[in-house]
Amino acid sequence: IVAFLVTAFMILTGRKGGQHVNPGIKKDQPKVVDSFTMKDIEDLMKKDKNGVVAICRCWRSKNFPLCDGSHTAFNKTCGDNVGPAVLKK
Ligand code: FES
Repeated sequence: IVAFLVTAFMILTGRKGGQHVNPGIKKDQPKVVDSFTMKDIEDLMKKDKNGVVAICRCWRSKNFPLCDGSHTAFNKTCGDNVGPAVLKK
């Protein structure tokens, strides 16, 4: 049943076995985990002209884990609709 569900998910989402979401960020690590304290977030909000923190969810940012707008070009190339998670006060 699990194999069937995995296969169905891959077919429905257009994924093939072996494809990765992460194209090249911190590939030397077994798992990419980024942590922020509330102070980190407050400091980042102070630096931003709009007072927000945008967290990358497309894995294409040159400033990962922060969004640098690379999702726009990525979406144009593949027809996806990904964007950042935006933290606001
Ligand atoms: Fe990845 Fe914006 S660059 S979500």
